[in-house]
Amino acid sequence: MAIRVGVIGTGQIARYRHIPEYASNPNVELVAFCDIVPEKARKLADEYGVEHVFTNYEDLLAIDEIDAVSICTPNYLHAPMAIAAARAGKHVLVEKPMATSLAEADEMIRAARDNRVKLMVGHNQRLAPMHQVAKRILESGILGRITTFKTTFGHGGPEHWSPTGKWFFEKEKAFAGAMADLGVHKADLVRWLLGEEVVSVRAITRRFEKAGTVEDNAMALLEFSSGTFGVLAASWTYRPGEDNSTIFYGERGMLKIAADPKRPLILALAEPARGEMEVSVPPLQTNERGGQFNSGVIDAFVEALVKDEPPPIPGEEGRKALEIVIAALKSAETGETVRLPL
Ligand SMILES: NC(=O)c1ccc[n+]([C@@H]2O[C@H](COP(=O)([O-])OP(=O)(O)OC[C@H]3O[C@@H](n4cnc5c(N)ncnc54)[C@H](O)[C@@H]3O)[C@@H](O)[C@H]2O)c1
Repeated sequence: MAIRVGVIGTGQIARYRHIPEYASNPNVELVAFCDIVPEKARKLADEYGVEHVFTNYEDLLAIDEIDAVSICTPNYLHAPMAIAAARAGKHVLVEKPMATSLAEADEMIRAARDNRVKLMVGHNQRLAPMHQVAKRILESGILGRITTFKTTFGHGGPEHWSPTGKWFFEKEKAFAGAMADLGVHKADLVRWLLGEEVVSVRAITRRFEKAGTVEDNAMALLEFSSGTFGVLAASWTYRPGEDNSTIFYGERGMLKIAADPKRPLILALAEPARGEMEVSVPPLQTNERGGQFNSGVIDAFVEALVKDEPPPIPGEEGRKALEIVIAALKSAETGETVRLPL
């Protein structure tokens, strides 16, 4: 039986990823869309042949013929919507950052557990083929001990992605700027790739040029439990284009991810000195409507529901990435090193 899905918030991420990826998943029936701007939801509903359109998410949650929801709204709405969805017995896929505080994240996790629904967070970077292959290389031990790393996610800012997404620049709605938007992706990615936890964070954040009340640049020094440490940079002022790279430095060589636009994954071993090797990475899948890449997030969520298995990126994992972001903001504010867990 198909998983019947409702999408709450039909802005950019819903339009480009969630909705097309659900539509191309054979186990899914898209049943309802909700947006406070009714024309946005209506246009997509017409395009995808979706029956119900709502402007109030509680109305969407009240209909019986929905098994699961995607929450694709501004950050401050993730927790209230996810908690309400869990209480209504719906499985939840929530966008990142999963919440705006650890208390909210805890309540979301509790609500999902108490109501026996699955909660997954859209940390799609883990599922990118280059990161999946990088994880296997790191786990193989070929680089020896990883001493340090650099990870970066930056572009020109959310105004180039979501022309209507003014909320990204408002602290009350976004809770933080580049660090919450992009830094959280890399916080999740490095702790997943290294398979260990961050124990301390020291950070600087700054608003150089964007109007609003959040930082447009952040840099954090993350120390992991094994002693590995590295820099995480998040920026909304990189130009031209973007930087989405990560480099691990190990005892026996380096692993460079997305550091060279033509070669997504490069392994360089010191002994025997083989120079740089390009590691082949499976191509990103495109969905059948063409053009758009499949992030893998929706398929992974649906698979967990179909097989009744735990989702691959559960709420607890989203919480860990959020904790690193919150620690970085706290460090930037106080000028102190912040120890984790908070
Ligand atoms: N995983 C990723 O790579 C990725 C990329 C971009 C955005 N995101 C996340 O997705 C979320 C949405 O971002 P976006 O870029 O789509 O923003 P957006 O502003 O384009 O879309 C948000 C939508 O939510 C709607 N909305 C606002 N309040 C609502 C309410 N009360 N009820 C129903 N709908 C409401 C808005 O009208 C808008 O259509 C954010 O949390 C963002 O961090 C994730």
